[in-house]
Amino acid sequence: MMPVASPARLQEFTLELATNVVHECKDQPGALINALHKLQETFGYVDEAAMPMLAKLFNLSRAEVHGVTSFYHDFRRSKPGHYTIRVCQAEACQAMGSEALTTAIKQLLGCDFHETTADGNFTLEKVYCLGNCACSPNIMVDKQTYGRVTAESFRKLTATLASKAQSSKEGSK
Ligand code: FES
Repeated sequence: MMPVASPARLQEFTLELATNVVHECKDQPGALINALHKLQETFGYVDEAAMPMLAKLFNLSRAEVHGVTSFYHDFRRSKPGHYTIRVCQAEACQAMGSEALTTAIKQLLGCDFHETTADGNFTLEKVYCLGNCACSPNIMVDKQTYGRVTAESFRKLTATLASKAQSSKEGSK
């Protein structure tokens, strides 16, 4: 199982950082959508506390900002797990057993798509093609793709990641 891209970590939400992150979107076309994407890229979700700031910045009502945020299912409204795991559900990966792999992954994590494990370590999502079809089946952990994943290699990978998540939680205390 080979990683093919480097990972990027998410930051803890603060209103100050959120305000800085979205400021450059102010005068762009599609400004609100761009700002929501920026927030999600930075924090992994769009925090409720950013809504009044977005409404003010874009001269909209809070209800309008809420409406746009909930219309697009890509925008998460709650903090994701320490790692986000995306399992490819597209054709080439399906042909190489992604369905059985998905079942095993859900069982191992004890959660379904769009859910987070009880320990807060992993959020599970689906994705449609990671551009690495030659090495199917593929998963992505944050921004890092892993090819030729098996239930066993997934179990080992998540055991390693869970201990990294634990150390990072202990380090931030
Ligand atoms: S179909 Fe899964 S990476 Fe392309």
